Amino acid sequence: KKVVLAYSGGLDTSAIMPWLKENYDCEVVAFAADVGQGDDELEGLYDKAMASGASECHIVDLKEEFVRDFIYPTITTGAVYEGEYLLGTSMARPVIAKAQVDIARKVGADALSHGCTGKGNDQVRFEGAFAALAPDLQVIAPWREWDMVSREDLLDYLASRNIPTSSSATKIYSRDANAWHISHEGGELEDPWCEPSKQVWTMTTDPEEAPDKAERISLIFDEGRLTHVNGNALSPYQALVMLNQLAAPHGVGRIDIVENRLVGMKSRGCYETPGGTVMMKAYKALECLVLDKSALKFREQLALEFAHVMYDGRWFTALNDALLASAASFAKLVTGEIVVKLYKGQATVVQRQSPNSLYSEDFATFGADDVYNQSHAEGFIRLFSLSSRIKALKQK
Ligand code: ARG
Ligand code: SIN
Repeated sequence: KKVVLAYSGGLDTSAIMPWLKENYDCEVVAFAADVGQGDDELEGLYDKAMASGASECHIVDLKEEFVRDFIYPTITTGAVYEGEYLLGTSMARPVIAKAQVDIARKVGADALSHGCTGKGNDQVRFEGAFAALAPDLQVIAPWREWDMVSREDLLDYLASRNIPTSSSATKIYSRDANAWHISHEGGELEDPWCEPSKQVWTMTTDPEEAPDKAERISLIFDEGRLTHVNGNALSPYQALVMLNQLAAPHGVGRIDIVENRLVGMKSRGCYETPGGTVMMKAYKALECLVLDKSALKFREQLALEFAHVMYDGRWFTALNDALLASAASFAKLVTGEIVVKLYKGQATVVQRQSPNSLYSEDFATFGADDVYNQSHAEGFIRLFSLSSRIKALKQK
């Protein structure tokens, strides 16, 4: 029997390795995805996996695919979960799960495993993708099966099997990082009345300590895709990296929220999404220039629907395909340039232009114009409000 485990190198998945071998009498193939979480996490991962008892370890570079095929399409929908969360962890799950299934096929595995707890969203996202892509493969979720509950338990388990680990008993926060964001949960954050301490934040500068001088950056979009930052032509992943480098020192993109998990409980989390916050703001500002009222209203509805599809792990569904097709149709119009000002935690759009702009100074001006006949408004308003007039007359 062969199991492919989504392995991160952390304590949980390091303990899962021997546990699977003992409890399922199987060979374990480690699979790790590079979604831009950074060298700290990836360094030494291969050796760690092998030392923990993996028979093979595959590290797959998904950085460009993640940004190009998952993040960019999500931006075109405008999705923001519960008004704040930019879906960083949610977006990474389908691309990771898909690559994990690919490895399982390559090595002829019988089962897939992951280190998600039984209390969270991630288990739903991984297994939702597995169900759609590999319904024939068994899924093993050790956290829902074993009786270990603490980091001490996991460390004792590894020690009793002479498996080396650099993990310590005290790790305060549960974090999840990728090119788009980092999430922080646990520790003092479990009390929603407790303000996050300074050590929570790892990706951005404290806005209170950010430079006193604002910085302006230019973003150019072509049919919904970000192509240039400050005039540099960049790949999707490179563009995001550059935006992170520019926005993080200004403390842009921090949020501290309580959210509804799919499994019913509320959880408190802090998130840092510096480049993503800028990208989303710029994209929406460009949409405001090119989409008319009814199109923009529908796009807003789409954003709400899609945010839940993405959060709930329903990427590989017919609904997702339909929503993305609709968003892609609007995105064809989203071409142009936006300038964003970064200053002490804020990203503010200050300039915009587009060849598809519907904005007309001739029409909108408060000064004199010779294109708009104000008397036309009278007839429009009379018909627009006709039903109200009829109702009022009847009531009289
Ligand atoms: N609450 C966020 C979400 O559901 C972040 C989850 C973080 N996941 C993790 N394994 N640490 O998308
Ligand atoms: C987990 O429970 O594994 C992480 C948090 C989440 O999935 O929501």
